[in-house]
Amino acid sequence: MTDFTVSTLDRRPELRDRIDQLSAGSWPRFLLHGNVSRWHLLFDAFPRYQILLCGPAGELIAAGHTVPLVWDGSPSDLPSTIDDVLLRAESDAERGRKPDSLSALAAMVDAGHRGCGLSGILVEEMRALARCLSCGSLIAPVRPTWKSRYPLAPFERYVDWERADGSPFDPWIRVHRRLGAVPLCVAPNTLTVEGSVGEWEEWTGMEFPETGPYIVPGALQPVSIDRERDLGRYEDPNLWMLHPIEPEP
Ligand SMILES: CC(C)(COP(=O)(O)OP(=O)(O)OC[C@H]1O[C@@H](n2cnc3c(N)ncnc32)[C@H](O)[C@@H]1OP(=O)(O)O)[C@@H](O)C(=O)NCCC(=O)NCCS
Repeated sequence: MTDFTVSTLDRRPELRDRIDQLSAGSWPRFLLHGNVSRWHLLFDAFPRYQILLCGPAGELIAAGHTVPLVWDGSPSDLPSTIDDVLLRAESDAERGRKPDSLSALAAMVDAGHRGCGLSGILVEEMRALARCLSCGSLIAPVRPTWKSRYPLAPFERYVDWERADGSPFDPWIRVHRRLGAVPLCVAPNTLTVEGSVGEWEEWTGMEFPETGPYIVPGALQPVSIDRERDLGRYEDPNLWMLHPIEPEP
């Protein structure tokens, strides 16, 4: 396992640009063009909740984005989209409401440090932060990492796939389950990406000669291309998972 120290963005503000680089290397390009208008809040309003794992020279090797919010514990009160998670956190903070939950938004491990178990450390640190804030829940809109290999499988069915030993088929769902999370419900569209056909061609390096659905690397389900309207549209589904957090002894 790589040597690392744990920090947060309020303590290491100089790593802000490195987080953007980590992000650019973590997501398919089209995903960076989704309908998320409040992402800046992570850095401007909630730096204390951005977990950073740093290597021996202080360099950023992994980051976990979270925000505190109020959630009544029911699936129907979960925010529908990534932007709604940020909106809820912002409005709770503005109204001075004491958060009872921490919501994860993303976890990213630098490509050179993947496959060493750092993702589980990030989730453990998110759980520890929730406990430290006296939050009873860590909730996470989980984007299953292998779903893009099976873009035609219905998402609701994919998230229930299991390995022979009964553990979740998807590695990222497995990490959460192993650390104590339970599935809550499917969020069918946490982020929408819309762009012209030309933009989609630029983002994906593909061509889309006809109107219809296309399988695109990194997309969890097909991208719908409409040449007549010059519009490509994609919806990113996630699985909401809940980590119940025991209070500090
Ligand atoms: C998803 C991500 C955070 C995983 O980080 P990681 O530190 O490489 O993962 P870990 O080493 O902790 O492994 C986690 C699980 O994935 C499996 N895994 C990791 N890399 C794998 C690979 N290349 N092939 C197959 N399985 C792999 C591991 O075996 C492990 O499962 P297991 O312990 O049950 O076998 C990382 O790949 C990443 O940053 N991806 C881009 C961003 C992303 O998709 N984030 C998740 C959605 S928010």
